[in-house]
Amino acid sequence: MEITERIKQATAAIREKTSQKPAIGLVLGSGLGDFAQQLEGSTVIPFSQIPGFPVATVEGHAGEVVIGSCGGQAVVALRGRVHYYEGHPQQVVTIPVRVMKQLGIHTLILTNAAGGINLDFSAGALMLISDHINCSGSNPLIGPNLDEFGPRFPDMTDIYTRALRVRLKQDAQAAGIPLQEGVYAMFSGPSYETPAEIRMLRTLGADAVGMSTVPEAIVARHAGIRVIGISCITNMAAGILGPLEHAEVMATAQRVKSDFIRLVKLAIAAAAQ
Ligand code: HPA
Repeated sequence: MEITERIKQATAAIREKTSQKPAIGLVLGSGLGDFAQQLEGSTVIPFSQIPGFPVATVEGHAGEVVIGSCGGQAVVALRGRVHYYEGHPQQVVTIPVRVMKQLGIHTLILTNAAGGINLDFSAGALMLISDHINCSGSNPLIGPNLDEFGPRFPDMTDIYTRALRVRLKQDAQAAGIPLQEGVYAMFSGPSYETPAEIRMLRTLGADAVGMSTVPEAIVARHAGIRVIGISCITNMAAGILGPLEHAEVMATAQRVKSDFIRLVKLAIAAAAQ
């Protein structure tokens, strides 16, 4: 099925299940899916029941769309996401972002688990993404441009909307939630990076590394959606401390859950402005 057809079918299938009109999108990364329980009056639709949607396979990613309200805002949340390393082209990985655009979102909050590269960070830190470096080896906009979403050569200067970052930093500080800010680099995975790759990324100006988010942010920006990115630093990146394990990623995400939930609620409130 062609991408535009998949987007159309998935949008129609979700619209059939709910009359709620979400204005804000949210993607919940590895181990961070429990936020979806914060949504009130929610409709839950497994990815597998949405024709055209790619299906997630990784542990810690339930793979469902949850539509409900948070602080009076209608939100569409993706509990889990598909990753490039699962073998889908980035154009397919980002179908859900374009579906959320069709559902009417104006702002997208992207969250992920990431490895800390900046030596001032430690596991459990939350980092607002100020910008990204795409080391994934691909780009979700490769292929014919979908003119109905945006231009062939979209500007990425303010991809993680500065005005929303300024507001969220103030609100997090007022709420006593420690919040770092930095540059997120994406490697494709699924192998974790090598210590040499992490030293390279630090030299290049990256503060954190992960295997997602960049394709979704690019496609959102292309479609004129404002983006907020939040990384949960679940571990220090390769070569800084001990060897890396997915179990550690999940355990740290669990440990910072209450601050993460509070921060995402503030991000939703900021996005509503
Ligand atoms: N590297 C890449 N992806 C990750 C990491 C990491 O160290 N931690 C969580 N996701």
